[in-house]
Amino acid sequence: MAVDTDIATKKRIFLASPHMSDAGYEMEYIQEAFDTNWIAPLGKNVDGFEKELAERVGSKGAAALSSGTAAIHLALKAAGVEEGDLVFCQSLTFSASANPIMYQNGIPVFIDSDYETWNMCPTVLRKAFEKYEKLGKKPKAVIVVHLYGLSADLDPIMEICEEYGVTLIEDAAESLGSLYKGKQTGTFGE
Ligand SMILES: Cc1ncc(COP(=O)(O)O)c(C=O)c1O
Repeated sequence: MAVDTDIATKKRIFLASPHMSDAGYEMEYIQEAFDTNWIAPLGKNVDGFEKELAERVGSKGAAALSSGTAAIHLALKAAGVEEGDLVFCQSLTFSASANPIMYQNGIPVFIDSDYETWNMCPTVLRKAFEKYEKLGKKPKAVIVVHLYGLSADLDPIMEICEEYGVTLIEDAAESLGSLYKGKQTGTFGE
């Protein structure tokens, strides 16, 4: 089948195309890293990025990693997810939200979305907790996503996680700068 490249290029809305500043700002820092030989392991630019990002979003700290996948993987390890552990994960998302569950040999249980936020439905989340409770099981962590920059309905989700004593992990890969009730997404989870 022939593809109309005109329509494909002109009408396509990119999910997240890279954005670079006009004045070659990023290029200056890349050049600086080369000039000062701080290519590896880390240098003042990474330290500065972590510090400024934490200040910007109002979190206690920030750790720069090689990818969002690595960040979620690290969060699952920190939450103590091990082989055979259940992890409740939002169903409508980028596959990278769930991949690290498999890296830990955990068992993902997908929680459906609500109509308003497209993100994890608190009602369905509670049902899942109740269902597994009857089986004598509880997840080690819950992964909620703020898909396409739209924040999930965090208050009821946090309330359920607190009630069951389960770690909440936020996948805020797509929502840097998005707020939930005036507070930056990515700063609510443990
Ligand atoms: C919602 C979501 N989670 C996780 C990731 C993973 O990030 P990375 O591709 O840097 O591993 C992405 C990446 O696009 C994402 O959109």
